[in-house]
Amino acid sequence: MTNTAAPDLESYWMPFTANRQFKKAPRLLISAEGMYYTSADGRQILDGTAGMWCVNAGHRNRRIIEAVGNQLAELDYSPAFQMGHPKAFQLANRVVQLMPGELNHVFFTNSGSESVDTALKIALAYHRVSGQATRTRLIGRERGYHGVGFGGISVGGMANNRRFFGSLLTGVDHLPQTHDRERQAFSRGQPEWGAHLAEELERIVNLHGSETISAVIVEPVAGSTGVLIPPVRYLERLRAACDKYGILLIFDEVITAFGRLGKASAAEYFEIEPDMITCAKGLTNGTVPMGAVLVRKPIYDAFMQGPDYAIELPHGYTYSGHPLACAAGLATLEVYQEEDLFQRAAVLASYWESAVHSLKGLPHVIDLRNLGLLAGVELESRPGRPSERAFEGFLKCFEKGALVRVTGDIIALSPPLIIEKAQIDQLFSIMADVLKVLD
Ligand SMILES: Cc1ncc(COP(=O)(O)O)c(C=O)c1O
Repeated sequence: MTNTAAPDLESYWMPFTANRQFKKAPRLLISAEGMYYTSADGRQILDGTAGMWCVNAGHRNRRIIEAVGNQLAELDYSPAFQMGHPKAFQLANRVVQLMPGELNHVFFTNSGSESVDTALKIALAYHRVSGQATRTRLIGRERGYHGVGFGGISVGGMANNRRFFGSLLTGVDHLPQTHDRERQAFSRGQPEWGAHLAEELERIVNLHGSETISAVIVEPVAGSTGVLIPPVRYLERLRAACDKYGILLIFDEVITAFGRLGKASAAEYFEIEPDMITCAKGLTNGTVPMGAVLVRKPIYDAFMQGPDYAIELPHGYTYSGHPLACAAGLATLEVYQEEDLFQRAAVLASYWESAVHSLKGLPHVIDLRNLGLLAGVELESRPGRPSERAFEGFLKCFEKGALVRVTGDIIALSPPLIIEKAQIDQLFSIMADVLKVLD
C-alpha cells in the first residue's frame, strides 16, 4: 500500500504482532470518527472490533474528548497514594451503581492485566485477613485469557501465552474449557450442552482440598480465545460450587463489561453475582488507559481493621485513578446512559445474530457463535499451518475496508455499540466476499 505517513518502523517492538510481516506491509490508522477508521492511504475502514473490544461508544465522541481536554487544563496529575481528587470518588460511585448486588467498592488500575493481578492479590489477601491463610490456590480455565501479567498468564489457559515464560505462579489449577464443536457448533446464543463442566470444580476441590483454594477466575464469555459462549446453566453451577466450598468467584469482564451483551455487565446479563469483577477497556471507551476491580462489600469490610492510620492493602499503582482516566470514565458512562447504548446493543443483538449465521455454508466455516454484539467465526485450519488462513482473512478484510480480529483460526467480531444495521450488513458482506476468495 502507498503509505506517505509511514515513519521508520524498525524501533518499535509491536505487542502481539507479527512484527516482520507488519513492517513489510504496514497497516497504519491515522484518524477515526464514529464507526470508521481512516487508514494512512486514505481509506475508510469499518471498525468491526471496537478498536480492541473497547470503543463501545464509537470513535472520538465529542463529550469524552471535551471532558479529557478540560481535565488536562485543570488537574494533570494527583498522587494516588494517601491523597485523592474528587473525580476518582465520583467515578467509583458511578461504576458501582452499574454493578449488581453488593459489588460496591472499586479499586482502580490501568489495564485489564493489572485488574486481573489486583483481583487475584485481593483474593489471596482476603483469605489471609479472614483467618484462612491456607487458601492460596488460584483456579483458572483452559482457553481463558486474563491479560499478560504473571498472575494473568498463570491462571490463563492459552498455551502459547504461557509456554514462553517459565514456570509461572505455583499452586494454580485449571477447569476444562467449555467449547465442544461436535456438540455446540452453530449454536445461536448459549449452547445447550456443557453445564456439567462446572462440576469439574468438585474434582479440583477433591484433589487439593477446599481449604487450599482461594478463587476461581473465568471470563463469563471467553473473548480472546475465540468467543466461547458459556453453556446454559454453566455459570450458575460454577457459582453454586464456589459457594459450597467458600471459594471466591471472579468474573473477568474486561470485554463483557459496559454493554457488550446489552447490559452493564455479564453478571447482570446472566443474573449471577460474582465476588469480584475485573474490567477495563469500555470503562473509558478506550480513550485513556484504565481498569477497575469491583469488590463485594464483605471483602472490602474484611480489610478495614487494625489501627486506622495503617494501610489496609499494600497494593496500587502510580496511575490508579488518574485524573484524565477518571474524567474520560465519567464522560463515557454518561454517554452510555444518555445514548442508551447498552439497550441499543440488546435490541440489535437479534439482527446481529442473523447476520453472523448468514455466513453458514461459506467455504472453510466450521462454526459460528454469537451473544450480544459479539461473534466468533471459526475457520478450518490449513493442515500443518494453524492460524494462517484466518490471518489471511484478516488482511483481506482490511484491504476491503473492515477491521476484524483473529485468534488462531477464529475471526472475532465486536463492533462499537453505535453500529447501524446497514453497517452490520456491510461488515458481513465484506466477510462473505473474503471467505469466498480465501483458499
Ligand atoms: C478477559 C480479559 N482479561 C484481561 C485482558 C487484558 O487487558 P489489557 O490488555 O488491558 O491488559 C483482556 C484483554 O483483551 C481480556 O480480554
